[in-house]
Amino acid sequence: RKKVGKITTGSKELDKLLGGGVETQAITELFGEFGSGKTQLCHQLAVNVQLPKDQGGLEGCVVVIDTENTFRPERIVQMAEAKGLNPDEVLKNIYVAQAYNSNHQMLLVDNAKELAQKIKKDEGKNVKLIIVDSLMAHFRAEYVGRGTLADRQQKLNRHLHDLMRFGEIFNAAIVVTNQVQAKPDTFFGDPNRPVGGHIVAHTATFRIYLRKSKGELRVARLIDSPHLPEGEAIFKVTEKGITD
Ligand code: GTP
Ligand code: MG
Repeated sequence: RKKVGKITTGSKELDKLLGGGVETQAITELFGEFGSGKTQLCHQLAVNVQLPKDQGGLEGCVVVIDTENTFRPERIVQMAEAKGLNPDEVLKNIYVAQAYNSNHQMLLVDNAKELAQKIKKDEGKNVKLIIVDSLMAHFRAEYVGRGTLADRQQKLNRHLHDLMRFGEIFNAAIVVTNQVQAKPDTFFGDPNRPVGGHIVAHTATFRIYLRKSKGELRVARLIDSPHLPEGEAIFKVTEKGITD
């Protein structure tokens, strides 16, 4: 087993909650309602993974599987400039693929393996992060109704294991997002919690529940993590990106 790496989120409070940052060889699930900051955190991690190690990065490239067409290069430019990085270089190290449906989304993980090997061979660079934003959108849209639930969960399970495998092969972090309705107490207390929740909950190594607070403020809560104490962190989504 390779030594686990950690990527800073941009917020010291959130890093502390995570035990230093987003870990490699693990799936980190960002879940929360619309506008809670899932996609913003993904953008920030895509920039931060490229930072030198002494600044909380892994000097790595990133693969983004974008299912809702929410990847924004101009937001990356803002965040890169805020960190004093060359925005063109930063964008070049982010490989974005649009997933058109759940089968395509799964295929893109296979493609990512080949891509990562090619990047290593041609450029000597390592892919250190793979993002799926959103993990569930296509699965939710395609599998409607109770009859198809088992099929969906089986496919989703395989998808998550493929992602985990990618993380192990390349010692990369895996970050997935999952939109849930804003009723956390009902959500966690209900044994019939929203479909998708169950399998994801058992595979994800770190589950972070995000919620909106006043203005730029967001609250992150770490949920049933095996190694870390449960707790909350407050961070901000600003013009410059994720900060304390
Ligand atoms: P869904 O994908 O709809 O479930 O939401 P999400 O959790 O991905 O939300 P997202 O990360 O897109 O957060 C949107 C919020 O981030 C906005 O309401 C803004 O508060 C903030 N935000 C997004 N883009 C910018 C930006 O360019 N500048 C600043 N200052 N804030 C931004
Ligand atoms: Mg989003």
